[in-house]
Amino acid sequence: MAGKFTLKDGRQLILRPTEKKDYEAVQDYFEQLGRETIFTYQYPGRPRQTREHFEKSLGTSWGIIALDGEKVAGLVATRWPHPNHPWMKHECEFCVHMLKDYYRQGLGQKFLNLMFDWAKENKISRIEGTVNAENKAGIGLYIKNGFILEGTRRRATFINNKWYDEYYIGRITE
Ligand SMILES: CC(C)(COP(=O)(O)OP(=O)(O)OC[C@H]1O[C@@H](n2cnc3c(N)ncnc32)[C@H](O)[C@@H]1OP(=O)(O)O)[C@@H](O)C(=O)NCCC(=O)NCCS
Repeated sequence: MAGKFTLKDGRQLILRPTEKKDYEAVQDYFEQLGRETIFTYQYPGRPRQTREHFEKSLGTSWGIIALDGEKVAGLVATRWPHPNHPWMKHECEFCVHMLKDYYRQGLGQKFLNLMFDWAKENKISRIEGTVNAENKAGIGLYIKNGFILEGTRRRATFINNKWYDEYYIGRITE
């Protein structure tokens, strides 16, 4: 799964699976992400993942990065914790994010479409995650794509002296 993607403003990105060689670029990306938004679990000054941890995570998840030249612009990833469990193999968790410079360019939608294709190929019919209750962009994207708000994690995070709730979100396909 690799290819070009043209943003609404005409910039071209390359989308492809995340690989071991992306370690440094992904760490740089996480650092910038943590400075730009409170809506992921990256935070300013968070220690970089070890290379070992990064490589291990590649083996247990599906992920696509968007590259703008050498730089990571955004990524989508899933964790499929029970692929062999007869009762739970149909469900996975996901996360999606990008740098500010790429918001509202259609990339979030493209990432979700790729994830839905991957889920279908793997007979995954429930995709779940969490979203900060004040994240209008995230909630807008998820509702548009058939996710339902399934519950509230009250005071899930404490950021810059303020409590935030999170919603559990889930999307079921037949
Ligand atoms: C949330 C995020 C992934 C959306 O990606 P995006 O590429 O900007 O979204 P798209 O351009 O593909 O927009 C798709 C739809 O999402 C919704 N959406 C996107 N941004 C929105 C905003 N600021 N307010 C309301 N709805 C928004 C809209 O329904 C939009 O459809 P439309 O363009 O027809 O109105 C992106 O803003 C982001 O990475 N934010 C920071 C990290 C984050 O919050 N990640 C999610 C954590 S749960």
